[in-house]
Amino acid sequence: MIPASKIAEINNAARVEEVVGEYVNLKKRGSNLIGICPFHDEKTPSFSVSPAKGIYKCFGCGKAGNPVNFIMDIEQLGYIDALKFLAEKYRIEWPKQEQTPEQITEEKRRQDERERLQIVNNFAERYFEDVLWNDDEGKLIGLSYFEERGFRPETIKKFKLGFAKDSWDHFTNAATGAGHNLELLINGGLVKRNDENNKTYDAYRNRVMFTIHSISGKPIAFAGRYLVKDVKSPKYVNSPETVLYHKSNELYGLFFAKQSISKNNLVYLVEGYTDVITLHQAGIENVVASSGTSLTEGQIKLLKRFTENVCVLYDGDAAGIKASLRGTDMLLEAGLNVKIVLFPDGEDPDSYCQKVGGEQFGNYLSDAKQDFVLFKTNLLMQDVGNDPVKRAECIKEVVNSISKIPDVFKRSVFLHEAAKILNTDEQLLINEANKNVRDNNKKQPVDQQQLATINRLEAQEQLLNVAEELKNNDIQEKDLLRVILNYGSKPYNENFTTVASYIFHELNAEDVILTHPIVSKVINEILEKLQDPLYEISTADFINHSDPLVTVLVADVLAAEPEISPNWSKKIDEIIEPIGHNYKQDVDSCLIRLQLRNIDRLIEENRKVIADEEQNGNIDQVEIHTEVHMHLIKKRADLAHKTLTTILK
Ligand code: UTP
Ligand code: MN
Repeated sequence: MIPASKIAEINNAARVEEVVGEYVNLKKRGSNLIGICPFHDEKTPSFSVSPAKGIYKCFGCGKAGNPVNFIMDIEQLGYIDALKFLAEKYRIEWPKQEQTPEQITEEKRRQDERERLQIVNNFAERYFEDVLWNDDEGKLIGLSYFEERGFRPETIKKFKLGFAKDSWDHFTNAATGAGHNLELLINGGLVKRNDENNKTYDAYRNRVMFTIHSISGKPIAFAGRYLVKDVKSPKYVNSPETVLYHKSNELYGLFFAKQSISKNNLVYLVEGYTDVITLHQAGIENVVASSGTSLTEGQIKLLKRFTENVCVLYDGDAAGIKASLRGTDMLLEAGLNVKIVLFPDGEDPDSYCQKVGGEQFGNYLSDAKQDFVLFKTNLLMQDVGNDPVKRAECIKEVVNSISKIPDVFKRSVFLHEAAKILNTDEQLLINEANKNVRDNNKKQPVDQQQLATINRLEAQEQLLNVAEELKNNDIQEKDLLRVILNYGSKPYNENFTTVASYIFHELNAEDVILTHPIVSKVINEILEKLQDPLYEISTADFINHSDPLVTVLVADVLAAEPEISPNWSKKIDEIIEPIGHNYKQDVDSCLIRLQLRNIDRLIEENRKVIADEEQNGNIDQVEIHTEVHMHLIKKRADLAHKTLTTILK
């Protein structure tokens, strides 16, 4: 648990315009800021930020909230992780869990090492870039290499590509000269030490350099590619595992891709660094690389935070494809929808895109895209021929893949399709698959980390549901909340000192039941707080509430429609008085609308009772309830009349 005071501290520090401003280009419009919504596709801006209230709302897709909600949504983080994210941004110390002294020292040591290595990596990234752009050797060899490969200067800068000189100690000298510790440089894999003579030397020599960034854009590792084919050394020299870099938990390019992945709800998975860069340059930004090795669980989990749709771009050769089928099965197992695109022999996504150009490449992706399960079925079938043993093996293999799909509906669709391709009885496949599923379930241990992921995903889903609900929710109840939050502590009349006391009296007297779970939660909290006679209702308390579901709702309710145009708003002001000036009228009409809805509900319930009693032949009851009906109808008419006069008053 993190203390409420910490949450408050983070909420107070986080300025909505700063947090949102890192992702959205905001322009001033009246007292608000406005920009293109990052959560849905739009051309004219309908995403509005109110620095004064500390909230944002998109009038196109309905997303709303405070800075924490924004980070949850855009970074796809759970509540606590979003708070942590903001704490880091605003340099607020994150509370440590209670630990033993040894744990604290160990944790502190690791944290220190991470921070120190980060500083070293920051230096190295800048150094390699600096050599590429400013050193004669760098320009002549490195920069012209990248240019030859078709990388434009802005692309080279964006991905922070660099160059390592053909020297044993130029980097080491520059780094130690700038005060960086030699042991740390060795730990980070930037400098190597020869065990025999204890001499140190630069790890990267005469190579073009790729920086590997963390999900938040920090340089955590490097890869250097040789310039001429050389049997003695590998094509790429990569950083070793360090406190900052766990290869199996990183995806190259994710930092640059994450927004586009969310927006397109799709990620392209490629093999190499250069594939990512070229596709990016061609405007396809939702692309990441597994960096040659087969996919790991950690990488798949990472992807799942952003989308459930993966499209794997395979290099041409068949042997390679067969080898990577297993890795792709893991994607199915994780519940992802998997598509695949093959390239002509000898081409990888980078070379093909450079060859045909971005536009044609994009068309190729959509034309050549096929479903992975069906692709695999076809591929395996090609080798079967007339051999019955091979055929049985093929069926088994295909069913195996399909059994890994967690969703039962998707499974049955695939079994149906596969039966057609395999030219076999569907029921046979279904039985086989069911057996597999049962076996798989038995084998699966409960993975704590997986559980945590599920919990987080559920929390996010809840958030999404609320956002969804907000769009077609209960307007009257939300309006009630708006009125209470805005005017609750203002005076009402001689009988009711405050608007809130009047509202609560009316709600009670009229037996109004609130059904929106979060509206009622907030209203109950307000009631509780009002036990303290000195309490004044303040919107800020709820905009920065500790429950993210509450903050989403409150932001939605409090966000004012953006002004249509400066001239228009002036005209509107002349016609209608700003709502705040006539708040009592606002309160009255809100209550009447709520009562109307309540009566409608009672009428509906009563109608059902009448129908039931009629069916049972209880004439007495029918009469009584018919009377109730007349009474309700009259009351409704009175109320409706009152609404008219209230509005016209
Ligand atoms: P590729 O050999 O396909 O390289 O390896 P590439 O990325 O297409 O590079 P270019 O186009 O020839 O310049 C795919 C990925 O496998 C990893 C790298 O991440 C590479 O991008 N790899 C490959 C290594 O880590 N080490 C190697 O020696 C080779
Ligand atoms: Mn390549």
